[in-house]
Amino acid sequence: MITQRPKGTQDWYGENIHKRTIIEGIARDICKTFNIKEIITPVFEHTVLFQRGVGETTDVVQKEMYTFEDKGNRSITLKPEGTAGAVRAYLENNLYAESQPTKLFYFTQAFRYENPQSGRFRQHHQFGVEFLGSASPMAEVEIITLLIEFMKRIGLKGASLHINSIGCKNCRKTYNEALLDFLRQHENDLCSTCRERMTKNPLRVLDCKVPSCKEIIKDAPRTINYLDDECKEHFEELKSLLTSLEIPYVIDTGIVRGLDYYTKTVFEFLNPEGFTLCGGGRYDGLIHEIDEKQDIPAVGFGFGIERILGELESEGVELEPEPPIELYLGILGNEAKSSAYKIVKELRNAGIIVETDYMDRSVKAQMKYANKIGAKNTVIIGADELANNLVRVKNMETGEQTETSLDKLVNMFM
Ligand code: HAM
Repeated sequence: MITQRPKGTQDWYGENIHKRTIIEGIARDICKTFNIKEIITPVFEHTVLFQRGVGETTDVVQKEMYTFEDKGNRSITLKPEGTAGAVRAYLENNLYAESQPTKLFYFTQAFRYENPQSGRFRQHHQFGVEFLGSASPMAEVEIITLLIEFMKRIGLKGASLHINSIGCKNCRKTYNEALLDFLRQHENDLCSTCRERMTKNPLRVLDCKVPSCKEIIKDAPRTINYLDDECKEHFEELKSLLTSLEIPYVIDTGIVRGLDYYTKTVFEFLNPEGFTLCGGGRYDGLIHEIDEKQDIPAVGFGFGIERILGELESEGVELEPEPPIELYLGILGNEAKSSAYKIVKELRNAGIIVETDYMDRSVKAQMKYANKIGAKNTVIIGADELANNLVRVKNMETGEQTETSLDKLVNMFM
């Protein structure tokens, strides 16, 4: 073997892909009742979309993007997240010209050159929703409700909702002054990236993962104390809606999120160990950043599929197993092959899960194989069975045998 999968990536097969399919199915079912439509955007975009959208001073853009020049000398980036692409598509395809709001969901791959560790991959997968066109906290309520329902249906119980407000551009001015005052007192103890961020985008200092910076940041001023009247009112209305809907939440003034586009509400669902399962928030300025002719509010979230799988395991939640093979149809003799395969086809067309022989095994070996793959029933079809129109179906669990004519075989499994 000349190489192995790149660090921080996974192969999806067997149980993992089965679980992922169930999770995606549940997500799709829920989105249907919330009237949220699917969107698929390219896996790569022009780099500028993320530089401007996610923000030049974020860790994602500065350190983690998979960026390359294509053969036409364009700077291309594998998407590190789903929002910027969805918003670009919303604008480029004039979806904003339809009656608003526009509610979109997606399953996307995302690429970030991060240090792989538990729950952190270089290629991960997200289920995301973007709710575009509404400035009302009802939009936040909608996606938070969806997330709660989603986790409930997949069987996750341990997540708690943490919310914060980071205000808008207007609040950011006064907040940045207070934050800078604070950071200047500790400037010499901050890492070089943080010192650079102080001049470009002080809020991003709060994302720093360097332990000595984290220690300093703990005492930094909080955005929530610097909200203007509009942002304060928005947050109050959201809290009161959540309370009246009996949605428990924790105000967590430490949440600022690592992407630049957020305004007002930010939130995360954390597991009992305080690990982030999913995150999102309002991004009223992103659409204008991507197309200056538009100014449309929006809110959304992204949920890592890998994080869901990890949490299912931690909480000991079993998802529905794969449906078993209903019937193994063994073939006896070359001359029976095509007729036997016709029966396989008929049974499958009726929706029955059927397996048969492709290995020219002996009948004994076929039965052994049927047992190994967990077939619930077996039947052997050879020249005699075809001539007499009579087969014997064996229940592999009880050993009980039932005779039936070939044309009634389908009925036995319906
Ligand atoms: P994010 O917090 O960067 O936000 O990522 C969203 C979720 O993706 C995380 O909460 C986590 O579940 C998962 N995730 C992120 N990075 C990794 C990784 N390296 N390995 C595994 N899972 C990961 C966003 O991406 C925003 N686009 C969310 C959003 C949508 N905000 C508004 N709309």
